[in-house]
Amino acid sequence: KEIKIIEVKSEIGAGTRGASLGVEAMKIASLDLNSDFFKQYDSIEVENVNELLFDGAKHAYAKFIDGVLIMEERVCLEVYETLFDDFVPFIMAGDHSTAYGTIAGIKKAYPKIRLGVIWIDAHADFHTPFTTPSGNMHGMALAMACGIDNLECKVNDPRGETLDYWEQIKNVGIPGAKIYPEDIVFIGVRDLEKPENYLINKYNINFLEIEDVKKLGAAKIAEKALEMVDHCDMIYVSFDVDSMDSRISTGTGTPVPNGLTVDEAKTLNAELAKSPKVCVWEIVEVNPTLDTENRMAESAFEIVEATAKSLVSRPVLAE
Ligand code: ARG
Ligand code: MN
Ligand code: MN
Ligand code: MN
Repeated sequence: KEIKIIEVKSEIGAGTRGASLGVEAMKIASLDLNSDFFKQYDSIEVENVNELLFDGAKHAYAKFIDGVLIMEERVCLEVYETLFDDFVPFIMAGDHSTAYGTIAGIKKAYPKIRLGVIWIDAHADFHTPFTTPSGNMHGMALAMACGIDNLECKVNDPRGETLDYWEQIKNVGIPGAKIYPEDIVFIGVRDLEKPENYLINKYNINFLEIEDVKKLGAAKIAEKALEMVDHCDMIYVSFDVDSMDSRISTGTGTPVPNGLTVDEAKTLNAELAKSPKVCVWEIVEVNPTLDTENRMAESAFEIVEATAKSLVSRPVLAE
């Protein structure tokens, strides 16, 4: 199967400005590295709502949730159509909030399937507007996908209009929850807040830690992750570049120490992408405005190329 690049230059879900420039920074990296990657594959850009940034955030506990709702709908539709056209969506996005739109799009295309999610990130992105420490919606993608509501969280404080939007956002693509928390595998997650831990323990979510990668190697971790979602029909891989060590992820909004090396991230993603069940791959959170000499985008682009290569050369999934 061929891949199709979906460019999502949204950054309204992040607290730091600049993630919408990540895709272009990876294009520059491809030129500097003499690759014709971006000429090789079809691509399409999802229209963004970044102009909202100039009005300021109205919802303190879910910043720009009105715009995030629009972006989720748009990403959902594009992913749905791309799958319908029989491509593998290869998503290059800005802030991580749109990963929920991706998941919604997969479920809109295949409502009956059980979708496994392999989430490679320093963060769990499992907050709701009622627990978020920042109000930034890139920290909420998986809570939206699981349809988490305020009653399930420790802090229960419905905050007016935000709650209405939260209820609406859960119905993007198809009504209600898109995935089961037990069908998530976290890899490299190491910066969590208490309410996230509460939900992770409650649902007993699969965890593969950085130490596991160091001990067993990235290829083995990929194998283990795939095993953990073996009961699922299809698998979506979401790669947040801050899963990599903060010495590497110099150009991202929320860097965290003690992460993956570029080689580990490359092997991990390239190995995962060999599975015929992987129906969508995504990279997020490259922010060149925080970087020096485009290093982050160059590392990210190496991973992009290796992963795309696996995706296009694997055997097709038998019907
Ligand atoms: N947990 C923190 C928050 O909610 C950080 C989230 C960072 N998420 C990301 N996709 N980079 O603000
Ligand atoms: Mn993330
Ligand atoms: Mn992150
Ligand atoms: Mn933290």
